[in-house]
Amino acid sequence: MSPPPLLIRNARVLTLAGPSPRRGPTMNDLGVLPRADVLIEGERIAGVSLGGVGSESRPIQIDADGRVLMPGFIDCHTHLCWAGDRLDEWDMRRRGAAYLDILKAGGGIMSTVRAVRAASREQLTALLRERLDQLLREGTTTAEVKTGYGLTAEHELKMLRAVRDAAEDWPGTVVATALLGHAVDPNVPGFVERTIKETLPAVHAEFPAIAVDAFCEEGAWSRDECVRLLEAAGALGHPVRVHADQFHTLGMTEAAVALGALSVDHLEAASPSGAAALAASDTIGVILPCCGFHVDGRYAGGRALIDAGAALAVATNCNPGSAPCSSIPMAVALAVRHCGLTPAEAITACTVNAAAVLGFTDRGRIEAGKRADLVLLRHRDERLLAHDFGGNPVDAVVCGGVLHWQSEHRVR
Ligand code: NIG
Repeated sequence: MSPPPLLIRNARVLTLAGPSPRRGPTMNDLGVLPRADVLIEGERIAGVSLGGVGSESRPIQIDADGRVLMPGFIDCHTHLCWAGDRLDEWDMRRRGAAYLDILKAGGGIMSTVRAVRAASREQLTALLRERLDQLLREGTTTAEVKTGYGLTAEHELKMLRAVRDAAEDWPGTVVATALLGHAVDPNVPGFVERTIKETLPAVHAEFPAIAVDAFCEEGAWSRDECVRLLEAAGALGHPVRVHADQFHTLGMTEAAVALGALSVDHLEAASPSGAAALAASDTIGVILPCCGFHVDGRYAGGRALIDAGAALAVATNCNPGSAPCSSIPMAVALAVRHCGLTPAEAITACTVNAAAVLGFTDRGRIEAGKRADLVLLRHRDERLLAHDFGGNPVDAVVCGGVLHWQSEHRVR
């Protein structure tokens, strides 16, 4: 059944109208309508108007009273499906142990792999459902969810099925990514070959269109191993993404661009040649500042990447090890403080550009015909989304045309 029509009146609307993805100075253009009404019919935006949008029906009305109405956040990089926790590892890191040394010693990602292998599909689904609900409350209406904590055909498929199950009754949209090259299991001889020859074909058989991802890093997958996996995935028709230049510059950004990757994610240690390759390509850079905040204070040079001409997205990277954060507003606040983005660029990066990473053209903008995924902020100036931190700036969330969550005392 179609949701009842909804009219949001008197809003400061960030339309983000225009091309996608954005790069260079266009990342600063939010297409602001200082006072406008937005009519939603069914799951789509029916109209945006400065002078009141007409409707045959009697829509439910929200008076935004000048508050900011913007596209729902699109979190294009998360590891939201996990079991267990990494609190002991965090204790070790606070005493000085390095993230990569913990991984090399069989902990880190591998410790979450053990917890996920021990969990049932139903347990993973329940945990993921709770986290997705939290995302929605914080304004995220589309979320990417990676696997990568199974690392065998059996357990990667279990994760993918859990993601599919949890997505079914979440009002927003979940996009799964098969992170088959997340770590190298030290207990499995020929692990890389097995991943390419067994895990990839098994995933392909059940999820033929899914993007395939890998973590190129010392102690994880080497550049050549990533290229072999991603070439094999590409030959089967999968789009590819990659985690690159997080701690070490291994030439993976350039290789990913040559492979036509959808995105290169992390980029804290990006080199000038990696930045130039990204800027000259259609591959989108995804920066993940919650990771720098939680791990070691190193952040991607977002300013230099945008100035070089790269299209950039911002995401939470929500995961139990390097970024236990589900809040896009927090990622925006950090991207502005530590990666050199303007507030407007950061807003573009978590809406229209993040949509492009996931292959969507029907969201990330407020225009007639687009999917009605919207957030109403409690702020009347969008710069406050980046300025204030540590709280939830979202007054109301509309997802697929349905008002799902609102703070009653604020929305009239
Ligand atoms: O993007 N770096 C690789 N993967 C995740 C971390 C996952 C984990 O530590 O469990 C990331 O930061």
